[in-house]
Amino acid sequence: MPTSPRKILVTSALPYANGSIHLGHLLEYIQTDIWVRFQKSRGQHCTYVCADDAHGTAIMLKAEQQGVTPEQLIAQVSAEHQADFSDFLIGFDNYHSTHSEENREFSSLIYNRCKDAGHISSRTITQAFDPEKNIFLADRFIKGTCPKCKTDDQYGDNCEACGATYSPSELINPRSAISGATPVDKDSVHFFFKLPDFTEMLQQWTRSGTLQEEITNKLAEWLDSGLQEWDISRDAPYFGFEIPGETGKYFYVWLDAPIGYMASFKNLCDKTPGLEFDDYWRSDSSAELYHFIGKDIINFHALFWPAMLSCSGFRTPSAVHAHGFLTVNGKKMSKSRGTFIKARTYLDHLDPEYLRYYFAAKLNNRVEDLDLNLDDFILRVNSDLIGKVVNIASRSAGFITKKYDGYLSTTCSEPELVASFITAGDDIAILYENREFSKAIKTIMHLADQANEYIHQQAPWALAKQEGQEQRVQDVCSVGINLFRILMIYLKPVLPQMCAKAEHFLDNELNWIALEQILLNHQINRFKPLMTRVEQDKIDAMSAASKEAISSEPQSAEQQPIDSPLNNEPIAAQIEFSDFAKLDLRIVRIAKAEPVEGAKKLLRLTLDLGGESRNVFAGIKSAYTPEQLEGKLTVMVANLAPRQMKFGLSEGMVLAAGPGGKELWILEPQDGAKPGMRVG
Ligand code: MSP
Ligand code: ZN
Repeated sequence: MPTSPRKILVTSALPYANGSIHLGHLLEYIQTDIWVRFQKSRGQHCTYVCADDAHGTAIMLKAEQQGVTPEQLIAQVSAEHQADFSDFLIGFDNYHSTHSEENREFSSLIYNRCKDAGHISSRTITQAFDPEKNIFLADRFIKGTCPKCKTDDQYGDNCEACGATYSPSELINPRSAISGATPVDKDSVHFFFKLPDFTEMLQQWTRSGTLQEEITNKLAEWLDSGLQEWDISRDAPYFGFEIPGETGKYFYVWLDAPIGYMASFKNLCDKTPGLEFDDYWRSDSSAELYHFIGKDIINFHALFWPAMLSCSGFRTPSAVHAHGFLTVNGKKMSKSRGTFIKARTYLDHLDPEYLRYYFAAKLNNRVEDLDLNLDDFILRVNSDLIGKVVNIASRSAGFITKKYDGYLSTTCSEPELVASFITAGDDIAILYENREFSKAIKTIMHLADQANEYIHQQAPWALAKQEGQEQRVQDVCSVGINLFRILMIYLKPVLPQMCAKAEHFLDNELNWIALEQILLNHQINRFKPLMTRVEQDKIDAMSAASKEAISSEPQSAEQQPIDSPLNNEPIAAQIEFSDFAKLDLRIVRIAKAEPVEGAKKLLRLTLDLGGESRNVFAGIKSAYTPEQLEGKLTVMVANLAPRQMKFGLSEGMVLAAGPGGKELWILEPQDGAKPGMRVG
C-alpha cells in the first residue's frame, strides 16, 4: 500500500431533474459507489460528487405543465433523487445542482477563457420556430408526415415506419409538438465551440490510456472523419445560464452539465477545511479524476469535455469509465412488462443490498449491457449471501456465545488457512481497482466455499457432543468467525449495511487496512440475522407495482430523451361516430408475406379479402417472420387511400396492437371469421 494516500475525485453522470431514478440509473451509481467505497476502505483520499442536471427545455416545459417554476420543480426532484440514492446506500460526499452559483461562475469562466483564446465562433443559423409559443424547436419537437413513406405523426428527423432519416424541413405538414402550430423558419445567431481546433489534442488524449479500448476505437473513427463545431447556445426562453455578454442567449444544457462536476466539488471544498479545489483541477494536478458514465453520453465526456477543460487551463480527466445499459429479463426495460422499475418501487419491496450485490456479481470493466434476470437474482442472492456468507457466521457464533461467553480463542488454530484468506486480498483488490467486480465476487465466493468446507469438515456440532473437545470447538468457531470477518471486509464496498451489522456483531471495525488483524481473545456480540432471503412474492409485488405506475406516470427521462415534448403531446382528438363509421374494417387472410429489400421494418403482405387481393406494406418485421404470418387472419382498414411508398404502392393498413418492436401483435379474429367479412 502506498505510504501517502492517493487523492481521487470521482463522479457519476448527473441525472436529469425531470424524471425519477430507475434501476438503469442505479447500475451506474452502484458501480461508482462500490469503487469509491473500495478506495476509502483502502485508506485512499477519495471524494465522490454528483448533482442534478437541472437545465434545458424539457425541465422548463415540465414545470410549466405542472404550474410551478423550474426552480420549484428541480428542488422537488432533487429531494426525491437524494432520498432514492441515500436509500440505495450511495455515499456521495456532496450532491449539488447545475443550477447553482458555483456552476454559473465556472461556466462563464470556461466560456470566457475559450472565447479569449479564439475557440468560440458565432454565425446565424436558420431554425424551425413555433410562432404561437415563441420558441425555437429542436428536431424532436417537430412532428409531421414522413416525406418518404407518408406515414403521419413522425418526429423531427426519422421515421418510425420506414426508418428514413431526413431533416425536419423535409417533413410534410410539419407542426410544433408543443403547440400544434405550423413552424416557420427563423434566423438566429448561435455560438459554437470550435471542436476541430482540438483534433490533435483529442487524438492524443483519447489514445493515452484514458478510455476503454472499444471507446478509443470508436472515437478514432470520428476523429479521422473530422470533428464539427459544437453549437453551445440556445435562444430564450430557456432554463439555464445566460451567456455572458449576450442577451437572450443561453448555454446549451450540455455545456454546463459536466461543469457541474466542478461546481459540486467546489461547493464541497467551501465547506470542508483542507480540501482544496485547485489541488484537483489545476492543469498540473497530480490528483486523479474519474468520470463514471453510461455508453450513451461518451462523446460529451470524451470529446467536448476534455477539449473545453484543456482550452480553459484545467486538467483533463484521468479516465472516463463507461458502462453498458441495463436490461431486465433479457429485454429493454418496459413499462408494460412491469420491468421499468423505479428506485422507489424497488425499495418499497426489496432490500437495496440485494441489487448492489447482484450488480457487483455481474459487472465488469467493459461497455457491455448487463441483464437483471429476476429469477437469477433470487437464486444468486440467496445462495451466495444467505447460503454461503451469512451461514459461516451463523454456524460459528452460537457456540461462542453459549459456551464461551462470546470469547474467541486466544490463539489461532489454523494460521495457514487464515493467512491464505488474507493473501487472497491482493488479487481481490486489483480486481476492484480495475472495476472487474464480477471476478472479485467470484474470488470472494470461492473463499466462502472454502470457509464453509472447513466448518463442515470440523463439524463443531459433533465435537461439542464429545468429551474433552471444548477447546477444539472454540478454536474451530473462532477460525470460522475470523474467516467471516475477512470476507466481510472484502464485501464491504458492496454491502455497507450488512457490513455495519457485522461490525456490531464482531465488535470490530471492518476496513481493508485492518485486514491482517486476527481477532483473538476478543468478545463478540450475540449473532442477529444479517440479511433475510429474497422472496418471490416480493419480486412479484414489485413488478405489479411497476405496471400500475404506467398509466398514472409521465414518461421517465430514460424512455424520453431530454428535450422530448412527449409530456405535452395531446392525446388523439375525439372523433364522432360518423367518423368511425367511415372506416371499412375487413377480415383478411395473409396470403403471402415477404421481406422488402432495403427496408428494416417493413414486410410486403398480399392480403386476400375473399376474392379481392391487396398489396400492403406493414411495419411489423420486428415482431413477426413472414412464415409466422402466412395463412393468418387479421383485420385491415380497407378504404385507406392508397399510398405510394419507396417500395411500391400500399393499398390499406393492417391493424396491430402493442408497444412496438418485438411486442406487436396483429389482430387475429376468432373462429368463424372469413376473409372479406366486415368488422364493426
Ligand atoms: N444529464 C445527463 C448526464 C449529464 S453528465 C454531465 C444524463 N442524464 S440521465 O438521467 O439520462 O442519465 C444519467 C446516467 O444514467 C447516464 O450515465 C446514463 O447513461 C445512465 N443510464 C440511464 N439509463 C440507463 C440504463 N437503462 N442502463 C444503464 N445506465 C443508464 O444522461
Ligand atoms: Zn416513413
